Amino acid sequence: MGCCICALFWIILAAVGWKIYLKLRTKKTDSYTCLNGKTAIVTGANTGIGYVTALDFACRGARVILGCRNKEKAEEACEKIKKETGNDNVVYKLLNMTSLQSVRDFAKDINENEDRLDILVNNAGAGGLGNHVTEDGLQITIQVNHLSGFLLTHLLIEKLKKSAPSRIVNVSSIGAKFAKINIDALNMFPQDVGPARADTRLYGVSKLCNIYFTTELAKKLDGSGVTVNALHPGAVLTDIFRRMPKLMKTIVMAFAKPYFKTPEEGARTSIHVATSRSVQHITGQLFDNCQQIELYDSAKDAEIAKKLWTKSEELVKLKREEKIK
Ligand SMILES: NC(=O)c1ccc[n+]([C@@H]2O[C@H](COP(=O)([O-])OP(=O)(O)OC[C@H]3O[C@@H](n4cnc5c(N)ncnc54)[C@H](OP(=O)(O)O)[C@@H]3O)[C@@H](O)[C@H]2O)c1
Repeated sequence: MGCCICALFWIILAAVGWKIYLKLRTKKTDSYTCLNGKTAIVTGANTGIGYVTALDFACRGARVILGCRNKEKAEEACEKIKKETGNDNVVYKLLNMTSLQSVRDFAKDINENEDRLDILVNNAGAGGLGNHVTEDGLQITIQVNHLSGFLLTHLLIEKLKKSAPSRIVNVSSIGAKFAKINIDALNMFPQDVGPARADTRLYGVSKLCNIYFTTELAKKLDGSGVTVNALHPGAVLTDIFRRMPKLMKTIVMAFAKPYFKTPEEGARTSIHVATSRSVQHITGQLFDNCQQIELYDSAKDAEIAKKLWTKSEELVKLKREEKIK
């Protein structure tokens, strides 16, 4: 009994200590940039990191467009942001990243009805999606986390160029650091491991795709006034864990809470990269904790970057005139 109390004491002490360390270590953005007259899109903005990012942009005076797949959740998020910021120029448009047609419809709406686009945050993402193939014949995790953002960015690039200087922000993950891309197997669910490990592996691959997309796009956009950067938001306690097995989720929620950032802390790097003056000329780079960091070793292969680009163009069936040269 005495031992148990002693162990519990040390666990609580370690948790409190870690939380204090995390609070002190988590940097704030240096950005006081006003976004009056600017337009920003945040995908997956009804909850988590995307919601806080959209809220911050609205606070800074931007017209904010939430790209969300669920009408009710999107409406609720819009109303909350408007109420909290007093900015009525916040709207949502439906966007389902499991459907290339939905991405095309969303982009068409933006291109036809919006005067400008200054910030695009490719934030929507999910893990634990399993061995599913979408209506487009694509592996669901790769489509949601990489291919849909790849297509969306292509379809909006002219608007971003016309509004330059403008910024694209790709929300990746440290999971990319441990991933390896096999181009030929990109659109496949791994069969050599169990489903949980296959899911984790695929999530890492999709997040590595975000970084390769960023570095290759930066080269293509050189001189256009449009910058593109990727980031790891940290380990953040959001709905991203919703698909975890119930027991594991309970354990994470109960014990891991002190080790995670809040969504407010998790959104800081997205906000920093999208708005800070110190980042305005930086492109093709990776950020963590509001700081530029060295690209992960896994993301440095120029051949993979080129092959992934071509493969992604094929998989999303990009038309010749939509390609970024
Ligand atoms: N949380 C972390 O520790 C962590 C760490 C590294 C990277 N990230 C990345 O951070 C980004 C934001 O994640 P989060 O932690 O804020 O998770 P979250 O709370 O689950 O938010 C994810 C957002 O993406 C949307 N989304 C998911 N699937 C979609 C689809 N098919 N079509 C359209 N929207 C879709 C969700 O919409 P619904 O609510 O309708 O599902 C939600 O708005 C993701 O790219 C994630 O990979 C998170």
